[in-house]
Amino acid sequence: KILILDFGSQYTQLIGRKVRELNVYCEIHPFNHFPEIDESVKGVILSGSPYSVRDEDAPRPDLSEIKGKLPVLGVCYGAQYMAHFYGGEVAPSNTREYGRANLGFIDHDCILFENISLHSQVWMSHGDTIVKLPKNYKVIASTEDVNFAAYKVDDEKTWAIQFHPEVYHTTEGKQLLQNFVTTICGCEQNWTPDSFVETTVQELKDQLGNDKVVLGLSGGVDSSVAGVLLNKAIGKNLTCIFVDNGLLRKNEFEDVLHSYEDMGLNVIGVDARKKFWDDLAGVTDPEQKRKIIGRNFIEVFDEEAHKIQDVKWLAQGTIYPDVIESVSVNGPSATIKSHHNVGGLPEKMKLKVVEPLKLLFKDEVRRVGAALNIKKELLGRHPFPGPGLGIRILGDVTPEKVSMLQEADAIFINGLKSWGLYDEVWQAGVMLLPVQSVGVMGDERTYENTVALRAVTSTDGMTADWVHLPYDFMAKMSNEIINKVRGINRVVYDISSKPPATIEWE
Ligand code: XMP
Repeated sequence: KILILDFGSQYTQLIGRKVRELNVYCEIHPFNHFPEIDESVKGVILSGSPYSVRDEDAPRPDLSEIKGKLPVLGVCYGAQYMAHFYGGEVAPSNTREYGRANLGFIDHDCILFENISLHSQVWMSHGDTIVKLPKNYKVIASTEDVNFAAYKVDDEKTWAIQFHPEVYHTTEGKQLLQNFVTTICGCEQNWTPDSFVETTVQELKDQLGNDKVVLGLSGGVDSSVAGVLLNKAIGKNLTCIFVDNGLLRKNEFEDVLHSYEDMGLNVIGVDARKKFWDDLAGVTDPEQKRKIIGRNFIEVFDEEAHKIQDVKWLAQGTIYPDVIESVSVNGPSATIKSHHNVGGLPEKMKLKVVEPLKLLFKDEVRRVGAALNIKKELLGRHPFPGPGLGIRILGDVTPEKVSMLQEADAIFINGLKSWGLYDEVWQAGVMLLPVQSVGVMGDERTYENTVALRAVTSTDGMTADWVHLPYDFMAKMSNEIINKVRGINRVVYDISSKPPATIEWE
């Protein structure tokens, strides 16, 4: 495997994903919590960082266990750190070193640059630059503005580049990473969805033996893939629970339950709509609503799980981005919204936890799902928040509002599908606003509700932009919603990006 030493760059996970796309297994660890180096580690990548090496509190890990002993690739900060620490010089750059550049010089004897063309485009993003290399360090690539775009340390398997091979704009970045992980580190490209399924099923068998396991299904990609994987490993010892919290999309409970049954899962559907609605009655504060929904879920799930005899394990669909220990650069981040799913559940239930997907990135979960023959429609589903329509009804939640929103939402989502737009959008939904306005229908004055349509592109939900949907499509959606959904007489489109807005309205 390859280890990635994280100095806090926003691109670190991307390096991990690119290495994984080469079918090579890698792990990301914070620079100050480096794991023990054993035989399985074939090479190390040092990431970028928001720090400057000249900052007082900049990361300064001891590399003596790695550098000179294993193949090392420094990227951006990683490159500057080694240059700075071993006797070179790093200074603020006075030319612009941000954005696209081309490699005007490449040392083609260097294996890192094998099959990379002269003038290849690379992406720079740094405020500092290396102005002097330590002795025994040799420049192997340059751009017009950046003399030491890449260097190699003599008599060591140490390379470094100041540009970012992991971003899309570095057009041959994947080739460069491939040269490093395969030719230089000697990794085999055998980390594939099929090999993951095979080894994980075996590991789950060994770990779980004949124990009983309970899993909460949500209809989302992660829990579904976890369910199918566990089912393959332990079959009937797995019981899945799918709760109808009264805040799901139209027909979702029935549809999803059927597709789980078709996949051969042993699944219990629990209709808890009334309990959720009763507890939410009259509550308008968003955080309060989230807490109520979270607490009710835990109560319902716990009660159902207790009906299963001798259950020992709670399975969860946790994925790698949730478990990567993050390098905290700006101190602990403030709670913007309390995301709930099953937080608090393991403590309450006193069960051991099994997380079969905790090594996978989201796109890998989808590929594993495909290797398990899970239907494309399920794997391609947009994310849907745990609190469901509860946080898309602004103000208090009532069963009538839920069904009004379900109708409008179904028109929008089905519209996106039939216009071929669904897969171009990362997430979409409808918000029911606590705003009534005057309209006219036939000869009648109306005074009814407003909905806001929301469709965004994103890669991980951390940032997002609104989608430029075709006007014809929006006109059609507006007509259909106003004509077909009683109680709605106005449709607006949300054109806010995240940040500063968020994807959900509550
Ligand atoms: P925001 O609104 O914070 O949402 O921009 C970012 C992403 O997270 C989803 N979301 C949640 N997902 N439990 C979840 O599983 C939650 O409590 C929750 N709240 C928001 C949201 O739908 C978007 O994809």
